[in-house]
Amino acid sequence: MTAPTPPVRDLVRALHSEELPAYVYDLTALREHLAGVREALPSSVELYYAAKANPEPEILTALRPYVDGYEVSSGGELRHVGKAVPGAPLAFGGPGKTPAEIDEALERGVERFHVESVYELRMLAELAARHAGDRRIAVLPRFNLPVGGGALDGSALAMGGRPTPFGVDPSQADEVVALLTDGSLPHLELRGIHAHLASGLEAPEQLAVAEAIVAWAVRLAAWHGFPLAEVTLGGGMAVDYADPGARFDWTAYGAGLARLAAAHPGLTLRIEPGRALTAYCGWYATEVLDVKRSHGAEFAVVRGGTHHLRTPATKGHDQPCTVLPSDEPWPHAWPRPVASGDRVTLAGQLCTPKDVLAREVPAPGLRAGDRVVFGVAGAYAWNISHHDFLMHPRPGFHFLV
Ligand SMILES: Cc1ncc(COP(=O)(O)O)c(C=O)c1O
Repeated sequence: MTAPTPPVRDLVRALHSEELPAYVYDLTALREHLAGVREALPSSVELYYAAKANPEPEILTALRPYVDGYEVSSGGELRHVGKAVPGAPLAFGGPGKTPAEIDEALERGVERFHVESVYELRMLAELAARHAGDRRIAVLPRFNLPVGGGALDGSALAMGGRPTPFGVDPSQADEVVALLTDGSLPHLELRGIHAHLASGLEAPEQLAVAEAIVAWAVRLAAWHGFPLAEVTLGGGMAVDYADPGARFDWTAYGAGLARLAAAHPGLTLRIEPGRALTAYCGWYATEVLDVKRSHGAEFAVVRGGTHHLRTPATKGHDQPCTVLPSDEPWPHAWPRPVASGDRVTLAGQLCTPKDVLAREVPAPGLRAGDRVVFGVAGAYAWNISHHDFLMHPRPGFHFLV
């Protein structure tokens, strides 16, 4: 479902034109969704939320009862999440961690470090020797694993199994494990293995990837004789913008993870999704300013645009949307701009042809003043957008509890 929930619809209708565009989040819908996800997962599987998907404090707080912790990927996220949900366990990932960020993470007592390279491992060891005292820092090296069987073929955003700047190459696994187990880095503890190989995978592919990661990690641990306590399987559960009513099959995925966990007693499995947790609880609401024809095609220009909601531009899709026709009489003496055809392309206010939110939307009779509510806008939306381009006003933010 991408149509706005009744409370979102009511709020969007009630807002004054000048209060648009606005992001509206339905936190009740978010909590219901998370309860379902949690219910589908075995209780032994740890669920971390990848804060980069949507770090609004209200979202982070609403998620707290359902997640075991948060995955953060920068010093900024570390501070921000630490403030929004104080005391929640944090896993610190991301490539290119600076010494200052690592220092801060150590000082804040971050629970897990996802180490992305040998350089980073040595830097962490050096800084931990200065800051960690008697504490041993839990490390999960992130590996860029080759996953066979075509499991990553469906991914629009693969980060593993091919040349990328992410994680440690598997050819360096022996070196990394040796460093962590031969006593040369005494302040670090090899707690397990981390992998995040792709985004946008459906449950069967996610399970195939999970099985491959665990099998690889188990072999590595057996080869080196270290106790494998944890495997983090990453995020990347699919959100289908072209078929927004479809949902990632958490039930099938949870059942598969239960089988995997049962086959490896004593091993903690952890996942860290972002998009599939928060995408459906957010809407970007706006209003049609103008409707015009151009070379045989029809365009509606809406308040705002991809500088607020960059998701369709980055992913190359049409953002699902719902039109809420205006009840207001047209206040001007001249004719109201109205679409004459059935299909209208919804563009924003930026001076670039790339500022398109959705193409050829069925919207017969769309008029200036009608409201358009874009769904699936709760993840990688506002926070990945280029807000300052053209200096239009920022949207409003509303969190319906
Ligand atoms: C290391 C890591 N974990 C988790 C995620 C979350 O992925 P998604 O939002 O697709 O679930 C990302 C996204 O880039 C990531 O880089």
